[in-house]
Amino acid sequence: MPEHNTQAERLISHLRERVGGALNDAAVCVTGGAGFIGGHLCDALVSLGARVTIIDDLSNSDTRHIGTLIDRAPERVRFVQGSILDPKALDEAMDGASRVFHLAALGSVPKSVEQPERTWLVNATGTMRVLQAAQRAGAGRLIYSASSSAYGNNPALPKRETMAPEPESPYAAAKFAGESLCRSWAKCYGIDTISLRYFNIFGTRQAADSAYAAVIPAFIKRWVDGQAPTIFGDGEQTRDFTHVSNAVLANLLAGASDTALDGTVVNIGAGVRTSVNELASKIQSRLGIEGLNPEHAPERVGEVRDSVADISQARELIGYEPITNLEDGLATTVDWYKQALREEREGAA
Ligand SMILES: NC(=O)c1ccc[n+]([C@@H]2O[C@H](COP(=O)([O-])OP(=O)(O)OC[C@H]3O[C@@H](n4cnc5c(N)ncnc54)[C@H](O)[C@@H]3O)[C@@H](O)[C@H]2O)c1
Repeated sequence: MPEHNTQAERLISHLRERVGGALNDAAVCVTGGAGFIGGHLCDALVSLGARVTIIDDLSNSDTRHIGTLIDRAPERVRFVQGSILDPKALDEAMDGASRVFHLAALGSVPKSVEQPERTWLVNATGTMRVLQAAQRAGAGRLIYSASSSAYGNNPALPKRETMAPEPESPYAAAKFAGESLCRSWAKCYGIDTISLRYFNIFGTRQAADSAYAAVIPAFIKRWVDGQAPTIFGDGEQTRDFTHVSNAVLANLLAGASDTALDGTVVNIGAGVRTSVNELASKIQSRLGIEGLNPEHAPERVGEVRDSVADISQARELIGYEPITNLEDGLATTVDWYKQALREEREGAA
């Protein structure tokens, strides 16, 4: 389902103001570009005039969104269906690319607890293969989607990049290994890299139907289906829920920057702490639902208690400043899902 046009246009004009023309006609490769954040990033890259090649094995996505991108700009969007573990597919995807946005990964903490080896292979070894391929292609810069899960349960708040990492799950460990690889490639092989440590990204088109779905689409889906959502633990755990436009902006700023980024790690969040209970009540009121209050289930293994970003380093290095706050981001996201889920139900009936 398309997002409301004027809203998407407003966002793009905002991004254009912030990023300028640096990506116009640039050849870029996006790993994981069929996924949630990658799809939004590709939208913006295409709107800013870049030539985009997406590599994705579709293990957690499909070609629906890529299809709309190709329809929009057939001469500037290319899709390579393949794994980041396959050097040949990577070479094909990165041919001529000046910048690589590396988002492909297995994204779920609970799944990583079930499948630690697969998680390591894709998220750590896969990142090394992406770096090697970027080097072979002569790409000048790689922008890595890292994760705030690297901080683990260290109680200090807000999270600052100078804090010692304490990964608590195979997912966090492998994503953190990816950052170290990116840094070491910047130091040893002359490819400029940056790791963007995202804090709970949400927005339209995030998977709502798997057992591992992120909390916002999972809550919305339950309520739209007339069921109470489940909160794991007491709901007083806090997160820095960050609208996807902010993650897109960070990628674009990093891609456009003319400063050496040198393997640096920066937090990408909204900088605001919200409990899961508060989040649930905001969604419930936006949906206009009375009753069906969330049910509580035991806390999940490997989950962190509290998290919020200090974003001053990203501000300083790449000029990052969030463009969408939680309220505005939630409003568009909730409305989009409500309509998309209803249309899906009507289509199935
Ligand atoms: N969503 C968040 O809140 C969040 C938070 C922190 C970090 N991140 C990171 O951001 C990135 C994007 O996350 P997302 O939420 O868009 O997830 P997503 O699952 O929607 O997107 C990831 C994409 O990678 C693809 N993929 C997986 N394994 C692959 C492989 N071996 N080869 C090629 N493609 C492969 C999937 O098919 C999918 O399209 C990931 O690196 C994730 O670790 C996300």
